[in-house]
Amino acid sequence: MNIAIDGPAGAGKSTIAKKVAEHLGSVYVDTGAMYRAIGLYMLQNGISMEEENAVLRALDHCDIDLRYLDGTQHIFLNGNDVSTDVRKEEVGKAASIVSKIMPVREKLVDLQRIIASKTSVVMDGRDIGTVVLPDAELKIYLTASSHVRALRRYEELRLKNAAEVPDLASIERDIRLRDEQDMNREHSPLRKADDAVEVDSSEMTIDEVTNCILRLASEKEGLH
Ligand code: DC
Repeated sequence: MNIAIDGPAGAGKSTIAKKVAEHLGSVYVDTGAMYRAIGLYMLQNGISMEEENAVLRALDHCDIDLRYLDGTQHIFLNGNDVSTDVRKEEVGKAASIVSKIMPVREKLVDLQRIIASKTSVVMDGRDIGTVVLPDAELKIYLTASSHVRALRRYEELRLKNAAEVPDLASIERDIRLRDEQDMNREHSPLRKADDAVEVDSSEMTIDEVTNCILRLASEKEGLH
């Protein structure tokens, strides 16, 4: 069974997808990490991300690989484990910019489909239900208000003792900007697939959302 979880930045997709995969014994695939790895390459090599041709030339030099070490996904860029580096804020922004370019998407979608063809996955991203796995048995569109998403991000940074925690208003501004960019791009914009179930997690705990998805998954399984 393949489960697609799409939604805006900060809705809790990765936390939830990881838990759902654990319960079902499926493989969790974080597709955002792949776009982040490409963004990281552009940042590391001083390539202007708005220049499509420059990005396309560089794309040939990006070898992206997902490996599972002790059951945890690690993302490799040209043989180096960049799992920690890709989590940085500026890399997320870079990912959102490079993800607008079609050949970048094609390269990563191919990789994502290969992974899903070999094993049961819980895959999270922006276009999983609409483009990558249109036949996924269960599709979830996970949302939360931008205010709640900003609050969660703020708390996460505070708990991590991040060197500099931006104020809440600027986190919320960044989140809205990212939504705007991901929802309004030409190729594979973020949108709810017609057959996806929308789950608004604004007033739900992580366990409540996880259980809700597991319930939906077992209902689907009963149908097959
Ligand atoms: O989920 P994330 O924040 O790690 O994703 C980073 C960016 O990558 C996101 O802003 C848009 C892009 N992305 C995408 O276009 N399609 C996906 N399936 C996953 C991420």
